[in-house]
This record gives sequence, C-alpha cells and structure tokens, in this order.
Amino acid sequence: MSKAHFGLIGLGVMGENLVLNAERNGFTSVVYNRTYSKTDAFLKSRAQGKSIIGSTDLVDFVGKLERPRRILMMVKAGSSTDAVINQIAPYLEEGDLLIDGGNSQFLDTERRVSDLESKSFGYIGMGVSGGSKGALEGPSMMPGGTKSSYKHVESLLRKMAAQVEDGPCVTYIGPGGSGHFVKTVHNGIEYGIEQILAEAYDLMKRVGGLNGSQIADVFSSWNETEELSSYLVEITASCLRVKDPNDGQDLVEKIMDKAGQKGTGLWTVVSALELGASVPTIYASLNARVLSSMKSQRVHAESILRGPNRINFDMGKLDNGMSLLKDAVILSTIASYAQGMELMRIASNEYDYKLHMPSIAQIWKGGCIIRSTLLKRIQNAFDSDPQLSNLLVDPWFATQVNSRLNGLAKVVSGAAASGIPVPCFASTLDYINSYRSSRLPQNLVQAMRDCFGSHTYERVDMEGSFHTEWDQ
Ligand code: 6PG
Repeated sequence: MSKAHFGLIGLGVMGENLVLNAERNGFTSVVYNRTYSKTDAFLKSRAQGKSIIGSTDLVDFVGKLERPRRILMMVKAGSSTDAVINQIAPYLEEGDLLIDGGNSQFLDTERRVSDLESKSFGYIGMGVSGGSKGALEGPSMMPGGTKSSYKHVESLLRKMAAQVEDGPCVTYIGPGGSGHFVKTVHNGIEYGIEQILAEAYDLMKRVGGLNGSQIADVFSSWNETEELSSYLVEITASCLRVKDPNDGQDLVEKIMDKAGQKGTGLWTVVSALELGASVPTIYASLNARVLSSMKSQRVHAESILRGPNRINFDMGKLDNGMSLLKDAVILSTIASYAQGMELMRIASNEYDYKLHMPSIAQIWKGGCIIRSTLLKRIQNAFDSDPQLSNLLVDPWFATQVNSRLNGLAKVVSGAAASGIPVPCFASTLDYINSYRSSRLPQNLVQAMRDCFGSHTYERVDMEGSFHTEWDQ
C-alpha cells in the first residue's frame, strides 16, 4: 500500500476537521490519537470512505507516512505539546517536518524551534484560526519557523486554506515563534472586537430598551456596511436571534455573564507591556473578562455601591442604524486592529521577525475569526506605506477617526453619566485623544520623578538632561 501524504496527531474537533480538509484536497492521511478508541470512532464515522487510515502507535504512524514526512500536531498547548514532541522525535528523520497547529505560547515555540533545529527535522509553529468550521472548510494559517521547512508544506497549506480574491489565506510569517506570535495578536484583536460588540449590545438593551431580535437587526444592518462587515458582527446577530426552546425568550439572556480565556489575550497584553506597545482597547477587553468572572463580588457590590441614575442619551436613531453607537463600534474596532498591528510592528523589530504587514492583513481576510472588509483597507494602508507608524494616520483611517470621534465621545460620555461600563469604547476614546495630542501632561510626571528620585528630565527648549531641587 502506498504511503500517506500527511499525518495528523490529535483528534480533537480541530484535528478531525483539518485532516478531513487535507484529504478533501487530495492528501491521503494517517491519524494518531493518544487513546485509540477516539481514532477508531473517527475512522468509523466522519472518515469512513475517505483516504484516511489510523495508527495505534507512533512507530506505526511514522512508518505509514511518505518521506519527507509532514506531520501536524493538534494537541493541547503547553506540556502536552512537549510530551508529543519528545515521543515522536526519536522516529523522525532528515527532512521530516513537524508542525504545531495549536495555540502555543510563542516563546515556547521559539524554544522548540531552536531545540529541534539542532536535530535533522524541521519544526513549524503555526497559528490556525477559524474555529471548527474554518478548519474543515478553509482556515487562515500563520506558519513560522525556518523558511526551507515551510517550503515542504506550502502546497498542502495553500490548498487547505480559505481562499480570498488575492490568494489563499496562508503565508510564511517569519522565523522562530513568529507564527504563534501573530496568532496571539490575532486573538488579542479578537478579544477586543468581541467586547466592543458586547458593549454595543449592552447599550442597545439597557439604554435603547431593544430586545434581542431588534438588536440583531441593528447588527445585521451594520454587517452590510464596509466598515463593519465581518464574521464577528454576523455571528453576533445570529446569537441574538436564538430563543430558549423552554420559554421562547432570548437565549443570550440565560447565559452566565462570566467570560473565561485560554491565554492568548493575556499573552498579547503581556507582550505589549514588555515591548512598550500601547494596546488599551485590547487590554480593556481582557480586563472586562477578568472583572466579569468576579460574579459573586459584583453581586455583593451592587447592593452597596450606587451609580448615577440612568439617562436616555443619544445613540443615533434606530432607523438610521444607531449612527452614534455605530461610530463608537467602528472606531473601537479600528483601534483594536491598529493596536494589534502596532504591537506586531514593534515585535518584528525587537525579535527580527521581518513581518510583512500587508501579507498578514491579506491572510486574515478569509477563514479567521477576525475576518472583515476592513482588512482590505488595512492591507492597502500597509501596501502604500510599509513603514506606517500607526493605522490611524493612514488617510482613509484618519477620515474615519475625524468623522466619527464626536459620536464615540457622545456615547462614552452618555454611558459614563448613566453608570454603564463601556471599557473598550472609553479606552479607545482616551487612546485616540492621547495619540492625537502633541502635548500630554507627562511633563508634570517627569517633574515629580525628578523631585523625589532625581530621575532627571529633558526640556522642550534646550538639549540635555536636567535636574532641579524642586522642594527647596
Ligand atoms: C480562532 C480562535 C481560537 C481560540 C478561541 C478561544 O482564531 O479560531 O482564536 O483559536 O482558541 O477563540 O479563545 P479564548 O478561549 O481565549 O477566548
């Protein structure tokens, strides 16, 4: 029997769907899972009649693959990934390629790439986005590692990826852990947009008095616009239309208001803090999840801490798509992308990843969770100016900021006056107002630092480093 083109380790939902995707694209496959019962169940169900065979152990698995072997691991990030690498490494040979398609911490990938490159086989850390449906129908993929290793798997990945008007949603990202770094930032942006849409929903419900279907209609109308047409807006509308079969009420209202996370949003913010990148909208979304998880404390505090009385402030007319609220959503979404792109630019310099920003925008246009029509504008912005310091100053995005800032400010001030939290909207407003201010009050911060710690300061009117005895 001829050997299989492609091997998959880890039959979770993502693994199953990715191997079915590879097989559909003409790559005969062999699968291995730690517990064989899972493999057996897959072969007898979704893989039945397809060119997919199973393996009971890793020696058998490796033996069933053509050389050089192409193996994708879809296992839990962290120690499980290290365990699988240690188990399979002794059986891999010159030129074989091992790919980690999980949501690994990019520094783990960095370490694995350098450890494993001293061996003869190649190692790729690849971000995969699109959830289970994307994995089956065409995800966005972000592979990083040595370029020669990527070449062994390029044709397979290009066929498996989502396709958009200018090509497949996969490209070589860069060396080391760059693929997982870019996926991490993708997820930070994902957290930001999810929270932004949740804030809009909350205001439409609590201030606008709309029910789930009415709010869904607003999101659906936004999804028809260039600025907001996106996967996340689309599924937000879908979620809001679903009713609880028990009583016909909006199902979202029955969901516990605590959001967890698997780590990528946290890693984005930690990286940003370490690298000196400003990502307040993304940070606000992470913090919103943290605060949401303190449910019992919030319930207790509600009976003690009083906020202002609710006011009915202007969010724009319903038949006009709530134009002011829409401004807030558009600018906050733009800020999430701008902050993510900025973080990648800084990281690229720091880690020498040589990230190509237009290509990253291009591969996010299809298949992934943050796909949106805005990404075409982002791609254009970095195409016309590869050194662009911040998306906000690109001419098209600057027009968006200048025409919508007033709307964002009205929504934030109305929400603040009503005591309704809008962390992403408020952070975005401060971010934009700070970014567009040539003079900020940090001159006084510098004076204080110099006063108590002799940290010295620079002056605006002369060169040099200065110290003053401030409290004589
Ligand atoms: C994707 C997603 C996915 C991620 C989940 C869960 O791009 O397909 O980013 O990889 O794991 O969205 O993320 P949280 O549990 O951290 O929200």
